[in-house]
Amino acid sequence: PPKDENNQVYRHLPPTTDTVLTKPFPIRGERLNYVNTPHVIAMVGLPARGKTYISKKLSRYLNWIGINTKVFNLGEYRRHATTAYKCHEFFRPDNVEAMAIRTQCAIDALDDVCTWLDNGGEVAVFDATNSTIERRQLILDIVVKKRGFKLFFVESVCDDPKIVEQNIMEVKINSPDYQSMGADVALRDFLQRIEHYQERYEPLDEVTESELSFMKIFNTGEKVLVRKHEGHIQARIVYYLMNIHIIPRTIYLTRHGESEWNKEGKIGGDSQLSPNGVKYAIALANYINEQNIKNLRVWTSWHYRTIQTASGVQAPQERWKSLNEIDAGVCDGKTYAMIKREYPEQFAARDKDKFAYRYPRGESYEDLVARLEPVIMELERQGNVLVVSHQAVFRCLLAYFLDKNSEELPYLEVPLHSLIKLTPVAYGCKMEQINFPIEAVNTHRPKPQVSYLNKNKKKIVYNKSLTWQTRED
Ligand code: ATP
Ligand code: F6P
Repeated sequence: PPKDENNQVYRHLPPTTDTVLTKPFPIRGERLNYVNTPHVIAMVGLPARGKTYISKKLSRYLNWIGINTKVFNLGEYRRHATTAYKCHEFFRPDNVEAMAIRTQCAIDALDDVCTWLDNGGEVAVFDATNSTIERRQLILDIVVKKRGFKLFFVESVCDDPKIVEQNIMEVKINSPDYQSMGADVALRDFLQRIEHYQERYEPLDEVTESELSFMKIFNTGEKVLVRKHEGHIQARIVYYLMNIHIIPRTIYLTRHGESEWNKEGKIGGDSQLSPNGVKYAIALANYINEQNIKNLRVWTSWHYRTIQTASGVQAPQERWKSLNEIDAGVCDGKTYAMIKREYPEQFAARDKDKFAYRYPRGESYEDLVARLEPVIMELERQGNVLVVSHQAVFRCLLAYFLDKNSEELPYLEVPLHSLIKLTPVAYGCKMEQINFPIEAVNTHRPKPQVSYLNKNKKKIVYNKSLTWQTRED
């Protein structure tokens, strides 16, 4: 983002003359009046209530839709500030020495949050328990009153002991705090740690903290309460968090079988499967049908090749226009070699910034991400789903699930005749790839070769791998 002479980021155009441009802007404390004022999302809740899970997932989503987001986890500041964790005694509310360390860590983390937002960050997620009114007032003072950022609290309330214990066993006993302890000892210690927090815990309350904007999520989404939310960023956060769940499930992704146009090296179109593509459709259906996947749903695009690929799968099927392949506009139906010949400038521009590049009368990867947002939202709500779609679409979906940035996204490898299995684990997603032994062309065009001379005048070349398309180029 543009910066002023004090290296402060300009986020809003100043109201009048050019002279205003040379002054630091926006003036601290006035930021709240703007729609795009940076946000702090502060988590609230007892330990093992999914705060870190929500923080990481939310950050992944916001970054994916193009909102620069970062998580600041207070546990990491605490571990940095104190030597090896000994036991739950550290978290006793009457442990004056430890309490001072914890407060100082919170202040340090909030300082970093503000510095990051001052330097172009858009949303900072402050991942801590923030379980007392006193702590939330401290955040309000630093973030809103002193720095003029927007503040929204997200509280996770969970009174189901089974979920809490499951959370501890899934993530807490593997935390750096418990490296030298066995699972049983770690579980007991963590439960005592929760009790210490419980002694002082003050859930967010709309009467006593009436000036705060917040949402509360009860028992992993069974009920949601939203109060005083403001603006499009908070609205999107609320909507997203209302859709996520933690029930175990698997998402299967596969491209259609090899198509006639794939064989000819042409992009786009709506061609039929090649004979090898048909073989894949049969093998895929056999594989999926044998798994007996509970309540499986199948989603395809509107293109013939995906519908044909999914035709043998025995499960309810739905067609999504949003799952159609990237629209190559004037280049639809051409090979890469033809595009390079007929539109050399366009071809070079795409290689330069593949994510942002938009085909004339077509789409960019950036457009595709926006088109796929409702698909992601629905995938979050669903159980087991098989999605049959296209290379560019899956690059976008995989970037969301695997937290890849916009530079990596357009070059993610999604080969034909292979099935990707995504299973949620701890704070992320496990990806497995099942390759079917049925021949298909390689449609992946790697990042073009870049060469330079090093200090010894030796030519260094990146991306040497040649595929079918680059040889043709
Ligand atoms: P701590 O305060 O110790 O850092 P935490 O609240 O950040 O704990 P997490 O580390 O996020 O807890 O716990 C992760 C577990 O929480 C995961 O197993 C995830 O399935 C589960 N989880 C996710 N969302 C929720 C929720 N809304 N309520 C309860 N558990 C959840
Ligand atoms: O107890 C979990 C934890 O994440 C600790 O690792 C961390 O030190 C603490 O919460 C931060 O929260 P508080 O604001 O209560 O100090």
